[in-house]
Amino acid sequence: MILRLKNIGKYFPIRGGLLSRVVGYVKAVDGVDLEVEEGDTYAIVGESGSGKTTLGKLSIKLLDPTFGSIEFMGRDVTFAKGKELKDLRRSTGIVFQDPYRSLHPRKKIIDIVSEPLIINGQDPEEAHKIAIEFASMVGLTKDLLYKYPHQLSGGQRQRAAIVRALIYRPRLIVLDEPTSALDVSTQAQILNLLEDLKKEFKLTYILITHNLQIVYHLANKVAVMYLGKIVEKGPVEKIFESPRHPYTISLLSSIPAIDYVFSGGKINIPRITPTGEPPSPTKPPKGCRFHTRCPFVIDICRREEPTLQPVEKDHYVACHLWQKINA
Ligand SMILES: Nc1ncnc2c1ncn2[C@@H]1O[C@H](COP(=O)(O)OP(=O)(O)OP(=O)(O)O)[C@@H](O)[C@H]1O
Ligand SMILES: [Mg+2]
Repeated sequence: MILRLKNIGKYFPIRGGLLSRVVGYVKAVDGVDLEVEEGDTYAIVGESGSGKTTLGKLSIKLLDPTFGSIEFMGRDVTFAKGKELKDLRRSTGIVFQDPYRSLHPRKKIIDIVSEPLIINGQDPEEAHKIAIEFASMVGLTKDLLYKYPHQLSGGQRQRAAIVRALIYRPRLIVLDEPTSALDVSTQAQILNLLEDLKKEFKLTYILITHNLQIVYHLANKVAVMYLGKIVEKGPVEKIFESPRHPYTISLLSSIPAIDYVFSGGKINIPRITPTGEPPSPTKPPKGCRFHTRCPFVIDICRREEPTLQPVEKDHYVACHLWQKINA
């Protein structure tokens, strides 16, 4: 087990009024358990605002949790600081959706990508050498390294962001929508590169994406988030072939011709369209958070919050209906 999140949560205070007092909280992540094994590509899916990025940042302690604990490679790092935090920083990395915003606009690529090493006391010349080596591995030529971010194409910038995340040879990398800002052919190149690097460096990925095709092709496990909670998680094949949570089903049925794409026509996922907009994470609905949009709502859903229960080995769902059917 490389990463274990136990009942992790992040509440962002909302301030209001003249005195900017705390008037409420955005419950971005609200009690999540996640176990990531070494070598996993663990996908996190869910609609905008469901807490995916926040969960990704919590996983590598770019954010401090409001509650819960983080175990990384067998160590509790929830409150890590000093050397322990530094070690964690070196063992983890993150690649964001928009490489333009994550790369300093007035620094040359070579300085941006070698910065983590230099900050850590490495001789700049040595650090540049390492950067050039890594750059060639991701398909960036040396001359590109001496340009500024705006002089690169989107795909080249994302390659630079990958070098920066990789330069410490981390164990775990969070990929937050790594290709959604890129055109389709560049997307495929970057995804292939990420696959190759994973093998080469024995990496573990947490892959945040809206794109379920990418999940199916790259990930071995998937967690579906809704309003700060995981509603279903398990091996990718199980979830794609027999999704249980109505929200998961609705996500999957929004892909065109899902049955043919994913099973050669074996499965037929019913079409479910959740009604209305997702409720606000400042005031999640009582009971099951999805009950206000669920076509299968039963009485208990309005009263009690369902917990994740195993459907079968490694496949968990938080849904009263399934628990009733299984009982
Ligand atoms: N620093 C912050 N301060 C206040 N609220 C925040 C902060 N970061 C995120 N939020 C809120 O927390 C909720 C979850 O945000 P998050 O970015 O984790 O969602 P997401 O699933 O990554 O969405 P998207 O798919 O749009 O990237 C949102 O309501 C968001 O507005
Ligand atoms: Mg996000």
